Amino acid sequence: MTIIVKPELLNPDYPIEAFSEVLYPREEQIKQLNNIFKEFGEYGHFQLSLVLGLPGTGKTTFVRYVAYNYLKSNPRYKEVYYINCKNLSGRAVEKTLFFKLYKPSLFNEFELKDIQRNKSWSYGITRIFEKEKDRRVALIFDEVDYPIFLKNSIGDRFLHSLIRIPESTGNLNVSILLITNKLKFRLKLSDEVRQFLFYNIKFPPYHTGDLLEIVKRRATFSLKKGSWDIDVLAYLVKKVVEVTSEQNQGNARYVIKALRYASILADEQHKDKIDYDTVDMAIQQIKRDSITDDLRTIPLSHLVTIKAMILLHREKSKLRAGLEAFYPPEMSSSEILHLTNKILSEMGKKNISYRNLNYILSDLQKSDIIKKTNTVKNKYLYCITEDIDILEKAVDEVLKEYL
Ligand SMILES: Nc1ncnc2c1ncn2[C@@H]1O[C@H](COP(=O)(O)OP(=O)(O)OP(=O)(O)O)[C@@H](O)[C@H]1O
Ligand SMILES: [Mg+2]
Repeated sequence: MTIIVKPELLNPDYPIEAFSEVLYPREEQIKQLNNIFKEFGEYGHFQLSLVLGLPGTGKTTFVRYVAYNYLKSNPRYKEVYYINCKNLSGRAVEKTLFFKLYKPSLFNEFELKDIQRNKSWSYGITRIFEKEKDRRVALIFDEVDYPIFLKNSIGDRFLHSLIRIPESTGNLNVSILLITNKLKFRLKLSDEVRQFLFYNIKFPPYHTGDLLEIVKRRATFSLKKGSWDIDVLAYLVKKVVEVTSEQNQGNARYVIKALRYASILADEQHKDKIDYDTVDMAIQQIKRDSITDDLRTIPLSHLVTIKAMILLHREKSKLRAGLEAFYPPEMSSSEILHLTNKILSEMGKKNISYRNLNYILSDLQKSDIIKKTNTVKNKYLYCITEDIDILEKAVDEVLKEYL
């Protein structure tokens, strides 16, 4: 027996634009997005726009929702393309876009081969519009920070060349909507692109009340009737907010994940209801997920420093006979430096200096992973403040991605 009726709705990455009942509306943002698509419907064009907000605030969901409803309303301009740029380079985005826009009738075999051989996707895209001057397309680039922030990337050149298409066609063929969770995104743009960017749609973090409403709707449509009650969901939301870092507290993804973990646990334990115990267990997994996600955003040297501190912690705990929970073992920066560099060497990576280490340690203190505890002979001592088992699993998982 299972209490899960629609498992796909418990997957935070499942597209839900067609399930409007599960959506807890973001009126203001829907209105702004509707206006953009209304303009597209009337004139075939809208201004370069940016959808901005921290992770899990509904950007992808609502942009796709509004685009979906726009297309369903049978508008005059029907070409709307959604490209998720995660892990793509600027060139890969161009290639993807080229093949979305491409029609066999547009190029002869020779021309197409030429574009493919030289990988001149941006030229190819411009050619498409030179051949079809009346074509009007809306492009949605989600997680657009990836190709732009990527090391050795061509930056926002792919955007720039799209913006310049009217120069060769004389028509506003391309409208662009950008989505990102990097709040400083604008600063990374070149002047050529930034000067076209007028329109901003902001997605603020959710409050606890919003999160409860979101998780309640999710439970209603994905779980069996009677398998949950509102007090338990309120407890779940409260706990999720407690264990996630500050920048993740308004992130709806974690409450949905928590609901999923809790219902899977309830199933495993043959319970017909999610209760406080299953929520508590689910929260442990959320805590790990959230630490893992946070660790993914820090540089390798930071990660290895944490790993070194965990190893030192374990080593020193042996002498504490179980009291380490009360008196976490302290370690000096020279001990940390020594072990960090040993691990970095083993990984074939460059060593860090004492100065680097001090910067890293101060970063880690800010994110509440470690704490400065004492000064001995003008030297600081440090200890780990996170739950060591959870932290170690998370660090190992992220380190694995570097190997
Ligand atoms: N208002 C809402 N009602 C129902 N579900 C929501 C709402 N907002 C977000 N969600 C759900 O929360 C999860 C995260 O939302 P979404 O993917 O839209 O976030 P995002 O802002 O695009 O985050 P990221 O910056 O990490 O890509 C998804 O599973 C989505 O369905
Ligand atoms: Mg998104």
